[in-house]
Amino acid sequence: MRIENAKLIAALPELGVELRPSVSLATTTSLAIGGTTDMLLIGRHQHIPQLMRLLAAEQVPHRFLGGGTNVLIRDGELPWVVLQLTASKPDIRIESNFAYVDAAADLGRTVTQCAKSDLGGMEGLIGVPGTVGGALRMNAGAYGTQIGAYVRELEVYREASGEIARLQGEQIRFDYRHTSFAPGDIMLTVKLELPSKPYREILEGIRVCNQKRRSSQPLNQKSAGCIFKNPPGASAGRMIDELGLKGHRVGDAMVSDKHANFFINAGAASCADMLQLVEYVRGRVRQAHGVELENEVYFWQD
Ligand code: EPU
Repeated sequence: MRIENAKLIAALPELGVELRPSVSLATTTSLAIGGTTDMLLIGRHQHIPQLMRLLAAEQVPHRFLGGGTNVLIRDGELPWVVLQLTASKPDIRIESNFAYVDAAADLGRTVTQCAKSDLGGMEGLIGVPGTVGGALRMNAGAYGTQIGAYVRELEVYREASGEIARLQGEQIRFDYRHTSFAPGDIMLTVKLELPSKPYREILEGIRVCNQKRRSSQPLNQKSAGCIFKNPPGASAGRMIDELGLKGHRVGDAMVSDKHANFFINAGAASCADMLQLVEYVRGRVRQAHGVELENEVYFWQD
């Protein structure tokens, strides 16, 4: 979608918003899949309410993208513009056991920056790609750690009120790969409380997690991490593997040979290829186990 509205274009600079015309989202997502649209890069949180009012008044449909590491975006010309936050500098500030982190900050860098201040707890999250905002939205987790456990306060733009709200951690429910944020909530900053731990101990934890991840996940291939959530008490990866589906392809969309819940773009996969593969695998698991696998990755299709 092209932004052609002159009033809107003229207002962007004073709102601290940069217009990037005609961006292929295949270049901004870890799956390297996605059509083309205009992007708006937002530098100043305080102007978001005004920007959102303007987009509503000018009837410009829009979506917020985090790090682009857990999303499958449709092909072709997209019917919405994409908004993305740019990180402020510094994007991570530490005071005693608290880390104040920008939603646009890289999650892995946040883990290592906190470690340098002898703040641990998040070692398991080290290899999870993406931004802190994206991790908060879905309560990212790995190796027994979920980010929600450390959240004390949040600053969120709430579409429902059109304002920026400050929330206490307890106001949000953080469940397995799910939170009680409204779909229109946009994470802006978070205050994390982390346990004190010597840097070297944290580094050792990070080393162990990295090793586990490298041995079981296809890290050097284009994916969005696990495509399905694990059903209660089971592993989607193991179920798909046991059906002999590793390496199964639709075009260049492929079930990873290394971890069957990772779906890979092995070349120039389209979104349509990936969707066809997802539905085929979901159907096979349904047939074999009577279990309906739920998407973990966000599907931006409509
Ligand atoms: N397994 C297989 N074949 C496979 C994959 C897994 O037999 O192709 C078996 C493993 O051998 C193991 C069991 O299934 O016995 C569980 O596998 P794994 O330890 O890899 O964990 P997972 O349940 O597949 C979850 C998360 C990952 C997270 C890891 C480590 C989900 C959907 N996946 O994977 O998160 O990194 O645990 O904590 O919750 C993600 O969310 O994108 C993600 C990668």
